[in-house]
Amino acid sequence: MRILAATTGEQVDFNQEPTLGLRDINEHTGMLEELALRTFNHTDAPKVADFGCGPGQSSLNIVRPVLDAWSNENPKKQLSACFADLPGNDWGSLRATVLGKDGLIHEDRGPQVEMLAGNFYNQMLCSGSVALATAFNATHWLRHQVFMPSPKALWFSELPSRQYQALRQVAKDDFALFVSKRMEELMPGGCLVVSTMGAAQDTSARNGIIPSKNAVIAMSTEVMHDMVSDGLLQQHHVENFLFPIWFLTEEDARDAILQNEVLAEACEIDHLAVTSRSREESDPKAYLLDQPELYARHKVEADRAVLENTLEAQLFNRCAASARDAHRLSDEFFSRLEDAIRQDVLAGPYRRHVDRKRILTMVLRKRKSGLS
Ligand SMILES: C[S@@+](CC[C@H](N)C(=O)[O-])C[C@H]1O[C@@H](n2cnc3c(N)ncnc32)[C@H](O)[C@@H]1O
Repeated sequence: MRILAATTGEQVDFNQEPTLGLRDINEHTGMLEELALRTFNHTDAPKVADFGCGPGQSSLNIVRPVLDAWSNENPKKQLSACFADLPGNDWGSLRATVLGKDGLIHEDRGPQVEMLAGNFYNQMLCSGSVALATAFNATHWLRHQVFMPSPKALWFSELPSRQYQALRQVAKDDFALFVSKRMEELMPGGCLVVSTMGAAQDTSARNGIIPSKNAVIAMSTEVMHDMVSDGLLQQHHVENFLFPIWFLTEEDARDAILQNEVLAEACEIDHLAVTSRSREESDPKAYLLDQPELYARHKVEADRAVLENTLEAQLFNRCAASARDAHRLSDEFFSRLEDAIRQDVLAGPYRRHVDRKRILTMVLRKRKSGLS
């Protein structure tokens, strides 16, 4: 297995899909308020930090209930909110959202606001400075691009058992690294909430898991291999490429903490669950299913915004003579994908691929005696 640095370094336009994950976030509001109250008394200047914040709207929905709960407890305490993401994030949009009319600052009053560009696999804030850390829909990105012989797979869940287990260890180590950096930053008694796409355990399924899935994930492998058959992509590049994404099961997440001596001592698992969404709740575009063309276009646009940079940088550039050719390959891939999804929807009740979301949520509390 070969791994390369920087998975999602370039700008990603998540604003194209403002509702992505918003509903999952709103379902956690009660939990965030409760954790806000639990962490409030540990400090005179409570700080909430959202990692992988994206362009802002969903991050605001995470941070605002925490700040409101704190300010209701004691309006005099100085509060702060930190928004952290990769340098390529859409910082203009984040700034406009957080500091704009419906943002956090009103009539010059509000929390201190920080925006931090960096990699959340590194420590990003001062040790012991954060009361509540959050990461929604972000930690499924592994730390590095992955290259390994994977002839029929683009996604971790499609791997044969031996490769699956090897990459599973990488994913658990990456998750443990993410958590250990947050534990450095949290004050004793502070909490970390992680929520992202997960996988359900099922011994009868391939590799013992049923991952969160959507039509784009399901169809992209077939489309990619069709492009190999048509001579547009070199087989050896495609057969070595994997998306640097992993959906943890409950067991993976628990092992990542408890099998790591330092983390097992530094924090306690307060809550851990993988919940399954119904078919209707899993697909934000389901309302367009009776218009297959529109459905397929919207579906691919949303996922293209998330996946294209990785595909161009790590696969199409390797198969093309120039950046322009790589971009053409990308256009071709997403156009074929759109077509495949439209065809699948036209099959109606005989559709092969239906979205099914599984959300993993974990809350960790830093022990009074843990790290830093
Ligand atoms: C799907 S968006 C989620 C945005 C927002 N949290 C939400 O729930 O809508 C994932 C975000 O994670 C960020 N991200 C991925 N890997 C990261 C890393 N290693 N360090 C910092 N941010 C990262 C991406 O840049 C992106 O903004």
